[in-house]
Amino acid sequence: MAKSHWYKEMAVYQIWTRSFCDGNGDGIGDLYGVLKKLDYIKSLGVDAIWFSPIYPSPNADFGYDISDYMDIHPDYGTLDTFREVLDRAHGMGLKVFMDLVVNHTSDEHPWFQESKKAHTNPYHDYYIWRHGRVSRGKRYPPNNWTSMFEGGAWEYNEDLDEYYLHLFARKQPDLNMANPKVREEVKNILRFWLEMGVDGFREDVITYIGKAPGLPDSYPRLPIANGIKYYSNQPEAHKYLKEFKHDVLDHYDCFTVGESPMTTADIALSYVSEGPDQVLDEMIAFSHMEADCLKTDMIQTPFDLRKMKRAFSDWQEKLQGKAWNALYIENHDHPRIISRYGSEQHRVESGKMLAAMYMLQRGTPFIYQGQEIGMTNIRLKSLDEFQDVMTHNGIRLVKGLLPETTILKLANKASRENSRTPVQWNSEKNAGFTDGEPWFPVNDNYREINVADQENDPDSLLNFYRKLIAFRKANKVVLYGDYYEHYKKDKQFYVYERNYLNKKLLVICSFSKDQRRFDAPGGVSLKNGVLVFCNYEMNQIVSNGFTARPYELRVYLFDPEQPKDHYEGLRKQK
Ligand code: GLC
Repeated sequence: MAKSHWYKEMAVYQIWTRSFCDGNGDGIGDLYGVLKKLDYIKSLGVDAIWFSPIYPSPNADFGYDISDYMDIHPDYGTLDTFREVLDRAHGMGLKVFMDLVVNHTSDEHPWFQESKKAHTNPYHDYYIWRHGRVSRGKRYPPNNWTSMFEGGAWEYNEDLDEYYLHLFARKQPDLNMANPKVREEVKNILRFWLEMGVDGFREDVITYIGKAPGLPDSYPRLPIANGIKYYSNQPEAHKYLKEFKHDVLDHYDCFTVGESPMTTADIALSYVSEGPDQVLDEMIAFSHMEADCLKTDMIQTPFDLRKMKRAFSDWQEKLQGKAWNALYIENHDHPRIISRYGSEQHRVESGKMLAAMYMLQRGTPFIYQGQEIGMTNIRLKSLDEFQDVMTHNGIRLVKGLLPETTILKLANKASRENSRTPVQWNSEKNAGFTDGEPWFPVNDNYREINVADQENDPDSLLNFYRKLIAFRKANKVVLYGDYYEHYKKDKQFYVYERNYLNKKLLVICSFSKDQRRFDAPGGVSLKNGVLVFCNYEMNQIVSNGFTARPYELRVYLFDPEQPKDHYEGLRKQK
C-alpha cells in the first residue's frame, strides 16, 4: 500500500488510562471514563489518541508488563468497550494508536509460564535463557549486564538451572526476537489490532529488540543499563523492524513511532529516514529531556538551557528534509514539565512558553494528559506512597548514601509518578476523577488547576493549547517550514525561526524568572511581524527588541501576503 503522510500534520493526545478518568467508580481510570471524555479530547483539536498499554497486566510496570496482547485489562473494560472507544473516536475523526510492548512480556504471560517449564518446552526459546558461569564453585550470571529497574539483568531459575534476561524489572522477561516464532507472534499481534481498525503503534523500547550475538560482557561498567551498547540499536533490531513492516505494516495505512532511550539523531535516522530503508515513521527522542539530569531523571543536575537547546536543534537540523520528528515535553515517564523546565511560581506563563517552544518546531506534537492544563508535580509525604518500580529502584540505589528526607525530596522531584496522578477535571471531590477512592493520590492543587475552571477562562493554558494546535494545523510555515536557531550560546533565551516560502515565524522564549533585554536577530524587524502568540499583556517593541518578563513568550509571524489584521483574533490571550 502506498504510504500516505497524514501523520505529519496531526497532533496526538496521550492517555495513561489508569489516571485519566474513572467511569465506573472503582477509583481506577478506565475506558468508560475515556468514552465520557472523547468530546473533550476532540475539542483540543488533536487528531489522534495514543493509549499507553491497556492490556491485561499484573502491573509490575503499570501495563508495560503484558500478560495478554489481545485483550483489555479488566480494570479498564473489555474488548467491546475498546471497540466502542475506537468506533466513536473514528466517528469523530480521531485516530487511535496502541502501545506495542514486545521487547518483553510479563513473567505471568502464558508464553513465559510455559517457557520456564522445561528446556524442551516449545516456548522455552521464546525468551533469552542462558546457563550461568561458574568460577571457583560459585555461580555467576551469564554476563555482566544490569537492568534498568532492578540490579542485575539476569534472574536465576533453579528448576532449569538457567538464567533469563530482563532488561527492565524481574517481572519483565525479554523476548527472544531472534526466534522466528516470536516474530510471527508479534506480527499476529499487529494484525489483530490493525484488523480491528487501530491506526498505528507507539513501539516501546523498540531499539532494544535485537541483542548482539553472544551477549558479550560490557566494559567499562555502567551503574545502570550496563550492556546497553550490545542491546540497543543492533543491526538485528533494524532487520526485525523491516520484517514487521514488510509482512504487516505495509499492508495498512498506519503510523508507527518508536521509542528509543539514549539514541542520537544520527542513529535515529537509520530508522526514520524517508526512503526504502525506513522502518519507522518517527522516533521519540530523549536527549532534550536530559537538561536537568544525567541520562535518568533520578540523577539530577541544575537545569541547563543550552543542553536542552542543543538537543532540540540537533534533532531538528539533522532530520530536516530527511525525516519527521516526534515532539514531546511530557509523557508517563517524566515529571511534569512546568515543575522541571518552567516555574510553578509562574505556572501559566511558563506553561504557555513551554507549549509554544516545542509545538512550533517541525514534527508531530504529542500532548500528555494534564499537560494542557499545566498540571504540576505532586509532593508525596512518604517513600511508601511511591508505587513505581523505577522510582523504587532509584530509591534503592541511594538508600544508605543519603538521609531519608533528601531521598524523599529527590523522588518527589524526579519520579515519573508525578505524571501519573489523576487528571484534575474540576474542583470537586477527587478533582472529578472518581466517585470512589482514587488508586493514587490526587494533587492537592486541583482546586486551582483543573479543566472546568480553564474551560471558562479564555486566557487559560487549556485554551492556549487549543489555539496553538489550531494555528499549527492552519499554517504551513509551522507544519513544513525549515528550522533555524538564533543565539545558540545564550543561557536565557531560546530563539528559533521557521521559514516556508516567503513566510517566517520567529519564536522567542525566555527561560528565566529574571527580566532581560531581548534584541531581535539581524535582518529581522519585529515591527513588520504580527504577534501571534504571547503570554503577557502590553507587548511593546522598543528599538527592535523588548525587555523580556519572567518566562516571556513572543511568537511573530512575518507574512507579506496577508494584512496584519488577518491574524489579530489569535492574540486575544493574556
Ligand atoms: C518504556 C516505557 C516505560 C516502561 C519501559 C519498560 O520506556 O515508556 O514506561 O517502564 O519502557 O517497558
